[in-house]
Amino acid sequence: MLNAGSKRITIRDVAKKAGVSAQTVSRVLNQRPDVAPQTREKVLQAIADLNYRPSGIARSLRLKSTGTIGLIVPDSSNPFFAELGRAIEKTAFENGCSVILCNSDGDLERESFYIEALVSKQVDGLIIVGANRASRKNPILDGSLPVVVVDRDLNGERFDTVLADNLEGGKKGTSYLIALGHERIAFIAGPSGLPTSAARLRGYRRALEEHGIAFQKELVVSGDFRYQGSYRAMEKLLKLTPPPTAVFAANDMMAVGAIACIRDHYLRVPEDISVIGFDDIPLASFLNPKLTTIAQPRGEMGRMAVTMLMERLQDRNLPARRYVLPVTLVERESCSRRNQ
Ligand code: RIB
Repeated sequence: MLNAGSKRITIRDVAKKAGVSAQTVSRVLNQRPDVAPQTREKVLQAIADLNYRPSGIARSLRLKSTGTIGLIVPDSSNPFFAELGRAIEKTAFENGCSVILCNSDGDLERESFYIEALVSKQVDGLIIVGANRASRKNPILDGSLPVVVVDRDLNGERFDTVLADNLEGGKKGTSYLIALGHERIAFIAGPSGLPTSAARLRGYRRALEEHGIAFQKELVVSGDFRYQGSYRAMEKLLKLTPPPTAVFAANDMMAVGAIACIRDHYLRVPEDISVIGFDDIPLASFLNPKLTTIAQPRGEMGRMAVTMLMERLQDRNLPARRYVLPVTLVERESCSRRNQ
């Protein structure tokens, strides 16, 4: 790789910059586990600072690898997956790998097509956000290809898995609304069959139960994790008598749709109806009102997914790891105390 001074950056330049031996840099590049974390960080920082790119051909020959990772997401237009993909790509780059991104659109057939396509391109491993629970039945996922599952719970004991604590997030958001005096709290769920949305709904129900508030089925409506679906779901909720005083949308894009619908019915957010979302996509803090939401650690999820995959490439016999990362309530302006 040539830098601005057109001098070719070598592994020795990286070693010098990081204050380690060329062998240590090579161990980091080859994702060897026998490198102390702080040393790995120093080397990765030197690689980024010098914009060093190991020769792909040399690497493939040396590692019998293509230095590519396959990534399949269910909706590449959703900012959550865009941010997750960005974190995966950044960490892959720091490990000298490139990423091939595929969008399954939540369709199992499309997902299978892309899994086979990525295998034929000889990716070193696959990071997948499954279209739904049935994704785990794809035989390739149980084959020789190293796989890390992100943002899904597809029988975690079989696959390396990293996801956010969706149940806790559902509880946190609902408890927050209850603390504001709301009892008639609606929940707009994501597509049925998705473990993330189902876990959030369980958290919602658990919070109601813990506060002695009766669960009312009519207050739970299905959305599609998209604007349009939540707009229609909110229309149903507004027809209820009395309508809810607060709405928990299972993701931010649906919170945006719900707010638009509430406003189109000449009601105010949060004065008339409070709205909380889930994800904390960048847009959330630019909305009017700024969206209160449950933030998912998607940067950490992406980084951990790549790291687990690299470690799996080094040792195929590693037991499957499962990390559930904490979520945080981000309080902004879209919720307020219930109108007495
Ligand atoms: O916004 C997309 C949603 O689908 C996110 O909440 C993510 O967790 C996935 O389940």
